[in-house]
Amino acid sequence: MNHKGTVTLETERLILRRFEKNDLEPMFHNVWNNYEVWKWSSYEPMNSIDDIRTLNNIFTDFWFAKYEKPDYYNWAIELKSSGEVIGRFRGINPSDRANKIELAYELGQNWWGQGFMTEAVNAALHFFFNDVGFNRVYAGHASENPASGKVMQKCGMTYEGTMRQHTKCNVGLVDEVFYGILASEFIMKQILVGVPTHPAGAAEEAEQGFIPCVAAGFGAAPH
Ligand SMILES: CC(C)(COP(=O)(O)OP(=O)(O)OC[C@H]1O[C@@H](n2cnc3c(N)ncnc32)[C@H](O)[C@@H]1OP(=O)(O)O)[C@@H](O)C(=O)NCCC(=O)NCCS
Repeated sequence: MNHKGTVTLETERLILRRFEKNDLEPMFHNVWNNYEVWKWSSYEPMNSIDDIRTLNNIFTDFWFAKYEKPDYYNWAIELKSSGEVIGRFRGINPSDRANKIELAYELGQNWWGQGFMTEAVNAALHFFFNDVGFNRVYAGHASENPASGKVMQKCGMTYEGTMRQHTKCNVGLVDEVFYGILASEFIMKQILVGVPTHPAGAAEEAEQGFIPCVAAGFGAAPH
């Protein structure tokens, strides 16, 4: 394992980067002021900008300090075309012992259905397998939230099972549907589409904290 922390990743239409303090208002207005976005999670209510800091402990000094940890993966999703922050993408519960990490993501409703999260997940898989060295990446979604599962399917993740009444989120107790992908499967996918595991120049750019996922062909928009 070679943790790199939340380094900047780039895809065709997105930049995944560390949050900055001035992202708070755009995150509220574009993403978190809408219950439809966070109802599948365990966030405390986010009816005002203050709720983000005081009820959820997000955008606090303590929260930003976590970026110092090499195994902390918490990206703002920035739209290249406008520079707007439109969502959040995380790698959570990293395990060095089992070489695995879980994905969690959310996008402002105005940007749903345009392939953005599929693009972000593909970039993250490329980074986690090729650059960090995880063996397994997995994610779960509420059974009533099939759009999230569709993203996992489109990124080549395999359905692994459903755990009944496994998670309590803001809509209540839900069945959680799990998908996963192993490094061997991801590398095979890369070989089949004929791209190197490390595109030319990627190693040098990774050193500088910038990883061009789109160069490996896994960041392209599906539409
Ligand atoms: C889930 C979410 C991240 C998807 O982001 P997105 O950028 O819209 O996803 P994509 O456009 O890449 O792909 C979504 C796919 O789901 C499909 N979809 C949308 N609603 C669906 C539904 N009700 N049933 C089945 N598929 C659905 C879309 O058609 C699309 O598939 P397609 O490209 O084959 O047409 C976004 O809807 C979101 O942020 N939702 C709220 C937060 C959330 O649910 N987070 C995940 C918690 S596990």
